[in-house]
Amino acid sequence: MSGERLLVVDDDQTVRRVLGILFERHGFDVETAISGEDALRQVEERWPDLVVTDLNMQGIDGIDLVRALKSTAAREGRDIACIVVTAFGSTAVAIEAMKAGALDYVQKPFRNDELVMKVRRGLSQRELERDNRRLQRQLKSRHQFENLVGSSDAMHVVYDMIHRVKDTRISCLIEGKSGTGKEMVARAIHFSGLRAQGPFVAINCGAIPENLVESELFGHKKGAFTGASRDKVGLMQSADKGTIFLDEVASLPLSAQVKLLRALQERRFTPVGAVQEVSVDVRVLAACNVDLEAAVENGEFREDLYYRLNVVKLELPPLRERGDDILMLAESFLDEFAREYDRPLRGISPDARTLLRAYHYPGNVRELRNLVERAVALCRDDVLTAADLPSHLQTAPATTSAVLPAKQFPEDGFDLDSELSRLEKTWLLAALQEADGQKTRAAQLLHMSFRSFRYRLNKYALDD
Ligand SMILES: Nc1ncnc2c1ncn2[C@@H]1O[C@H](COP(=O)(O)OP(=O)(O)OP(=O)(O)O)[C@@H](O)[C@H]1O
Ligand SMILES: [Mg+2]
Repeated sequence: MSGERLLVVDDDQTVRRVLGILFERHGFDVETAISGEDALRQVEERWPDLVVTDLNMQGIDGIDLVRALKSTAAREGRDIACIVVTAFGSTAVAIEAMKAGALDYVQKPFRNDELVMKVRRGLSQRELERDNRRLQRQLKSRHQFENLVGSSDAMHVVYDMIHRVKDTRISCLIEGKSGTGKEMVARAIHFSGLRAQGPFVAINCGAIPENLVESELFGHKKGAFTGASRDKVGLMQSADKGTIFLDEVASLPLSAQVKLLRALQERRFTPVGAVQEVSVDVRVLAACNVDLEAAVENGEFREDLYYRLNVVKLELPPLRERGDDILMLAESFLDEFAREYDRPLRGISPDARTLLRAYHYPGNVRELRNLVERAVALCRDDVLTAADLPSHLQTAPATTSAVLPAKQFPEDGFDLDSELSRLEKTWLLAALQEADGQKTRAAQLLHMSFRSFRYRLNKYALDD
């Protein structure tokens, strides 16, 4: 127990001296403060484990001090125990101090051993609270894998799969719409598995000009083509003993697909213009935000390569299908950005939570992350409120209530078909408006294919 830091706050110099000697004799490291203001200044420099304060002081009194210390502690995620010293017979004030967050009190005149005993008890209680928080954090980490956040069923399936494949060389195909976390999952597989010490090399197959893909992936010899002014090591080789992440794999040109397939089968390939083969030990993870199987059916992606890449498939559902993960992610991003922007944000208000939960997130987790970052940057308070969220969240149509039938049934009935058509038309137009006229996006908002959306627009003569 010894060596723990106590701060004794009292405006009476004699009391400060007596208590200082007492606690030092018991092995504590003691500082003293002459007022509440002085105490608050001192804790900024050096955070004590426990504070013993007089209640009746000029300026900031003991109760205010306890309150201030408790709120600083909560904001900074620390803990502090406070014990107050009250005048004889002032039990009511003592109780008020406890309500403000003091752990215990002693009445003057007190016995030294009584005070020391209470301080010791206070410190062990604080220890207990700390353990408690650690346990809670551990519990929370069960809903995470590496940095992935979420405890929906869909995410548990993903975590489970990551566990099963991380220590193998199995190729995995990670499928999901834009911003659902495909790259994060790829990183989680690599960095939690046996290859973590090796390189993780990511290549966006859609971002490289078609004629350069092969040389990027497999490297080339000097003079292999115009512009190849020196030998170049390909990404496959840079990823040796590690993982290569082929993002947007559907964009891989057919010629590169052939070469990749061979490289995967034989673990060897020949750089462009080279004679000598290169051997590599690379684990391949691929990601795709379109239906790769459909690309195979259309003849845009080689079937044999598809099966080679898709030994295990991990599917990331759209964020709107992950239920309360939305709020869990929002809180996690809030913590992250509050720290980054050095903002003392404590949480998200209930009305903001409702809006966040109801929104449909066409841009998935990335959109939520950007949205929280913006809100944290704009927020003036220590709680994020609905006003900090962008306007398109505030006006998001409340689907459920809007689709529900009217409470009053019309006396002579009504024509259901034309009512449904009217409703359909309203929502088609609302989606178009929400999507700024982009039909693909509008179709996504209504969870339907582009073709089906276009068909319906046509049906109501709504297209132009
Ligand atoms: N489960 C998650 N937990 C925490 N952060 C996440 C999660 N999923 C995604 N993110 C964050 O969302 C953003 C987008 O994730 P990522 O880049 O992995 O998505 P993606 O599916 O590869 O997107 P794209 O298809 O646009 O390339 C990143 O900032 C990432 O950190
Ligand atoms: Mg990505």
